[in-house]
Parts: sequence; structure tokens; C-alpha cells
Amino acid sequence: MLSFKSSTRTIPDIARVPRHVAIIMDGNGRWAKKHFLPRFTGHSRGVETVREAVRYCLDRGIGYLTLFAFSSENWRRPAEEVSLLMQLFAKALMQEVSRLKANGVRLRVIGDPARFDAQLQALIREAERTTAANDRLTLTIAANYGGRWDILQAVNRMAVERPEKQGRWTEDDLTPYLAMNHAPEPDLFIRTGGEERISNFLLWQLAYAEFYFTETLWPEFDATAFDQAVASYQRRERRFGRISEQLAAGEGDAATDECQLHA
Ligand code: IPE
Ligand code: IPE
Ligand code: MG
Repeated sequence: MLSFKSSTRTIPDIARVPRHVAIIMDGNGRWAKKHFLPRFTGHSRGVETVREAVRYCLDRGIGYLTLFAFSSENWRRPAEEVSLLMQLFAKALMQEVSRLKANGVRLRVIGDPARFDAQLQALIREAERTTAANDRLTLTIAANYGGRWDILQAVNRMAVERPEKQGRWTEDDLTPYLAMNHAPEPDLFIRTGGEERISNFLLWQLAYAEFYFTETLWPEFDATAFDQAVASYQRRERRFGRISEQLAAGEGDAATDECQLHA
């Protein structure tokens, strides 16, 4: 398996275009309310925005797009809304897979699938299987995902499979077990809908991501809004613990620049 560098162990190579964008797609309900429509219509419009965001990444050469679709806490919503969201997810999988395939998109779904019904689980497996060889864009959908769940399931599996290293486990031992082991760490994190919180999304993987919050509601997050987020990202100075003067001098870019404090 391809392994990706850790931002806390090696200073990553930074490109002008973010390599990996992770988004909390929030604000569907408020969008619907604003337009006097049922919440579900907001979620349907949200799926259209997903399509646009995928197009955007394909056009701009962004290689990884990760979208938070349903959190491990979203089961707390009214049963009717949860059920409609599950139906919408199944429908989107059925309708979009051929298009994803045609566009070179590899689909991955992260989260605990156990709580989904058998049909949805089968659709997920099939969509992942049929797009597995694509490499233009990796689209990861986080569904029944929680950052704490992710870290715990990884630790538990590592502890079972690598018992001999107990007390000496390192990042490199753990990361292959994390749900995002198929992607580099996100460069840019976007949350639409005005809230400024992480809501148990990629807790481990966002260690050095640049955060961008916008009031724009997800159904209105178009290419112009995405451009603004990327432009904001491009104005950031990503120091990874260093000072500006070191960046100007090009110091610490060597792949060998390992942090000393790691076990
Ligand atoms: C995000 O939109 C989609 C999901 C969490 C499934 P919301 O449904 O949270 O929209 P708001 O926050 O109520 O506007
Ligand atoms: C976060 O949105 C999860 C998704 C977008 C899937 P929520 O709308 O559920 O987040 P909170 O509850 O406002 O933090
Ligand atoms: Mg919300």
C-alpha cells in the first residue's frame, strides 16, 4: 500500500493548488428554511452541490476531495430525516457511479457501515469496487463517520495485530489503520454554513490543515465560492512549527527533517 508522509514527522511538500480538500457540507436545512422548502429538499440540493464540487476538483487538478455527509452523531436527528438521508445516499450511489467512473473518480466511503441496511452496504461495496482503479480524483464520503471512532478503531486493530510493539507504537504503526490511509493529510478544510467547529470530523488528519469557514450554505457553495476558499488557502503561510525566516531561506524542506520528539 502507498503510504503518505505525516505532517508532524516530515515537512510536507506544498503545492499552490491544495492536493486534498476536506469539507463539512453544512447548511442544507437552513437553505431549505430560507426558501420555505422542506429540509429534505435542502439535502437534495446538497447532492447537486457535491456534483459541482467534484467537477471543480477535476477541473482544477485537486486530487483528493473528502466530504462529511453523515456524522456518527447525526443518528440523533428525527428518524424521518435519518431515513430520508439514507435513501438519498443510496440513490446518489446508484445514479452517480457510472459518471464517476467515466470521469476517472475513485470513490471511497469511510465510517462504520455496520448500522446501514444491507442494500446500502452492498451499494457502497459495489461503488468502491467498480471505481477502484481510477486515479484522477479520489472522492471520499464520510458516512457514519466520527473522528474519535476512527482513532479508536485504528488503535484497537493495531493493538491486536502488532501486540509485540506495545508501549512502543509510533505514528507510522497507527496511520495504516486509520480510515483515510488511502489519502495524504488534508491541506484545506472548509466548513460551509457559518458554524466554526469540527463536529468530530477528521480529528487526527487535520493536524496541520488550513481552516476556512464560510457563511455560504452548502447548496449555494458554487465554483466561485470554492475559488474564494482556495484563494484564501493560497494566502496562508504554512509553517509547520517553523518561523517565517526559515521558510524564506527554504530551510527544513528536506524529507529527512524529522521531528526529534517523536517516539
Ligand atoms: C448538513 O446540513 C447535512 C447533514 C448533516 C446531513 P444540515 O442538515 O446540518 O443543515 P443545517 O445545519 O440544519 O442548516
Ligand atoms: C456536521 O454537520 C456533519 C455533517 C455535515 C455531515 P452537523 O450540522 O450535524 O453539525 P453540528 O451538529 O451542527 O455540529
Ligand atoms: Mg448542520
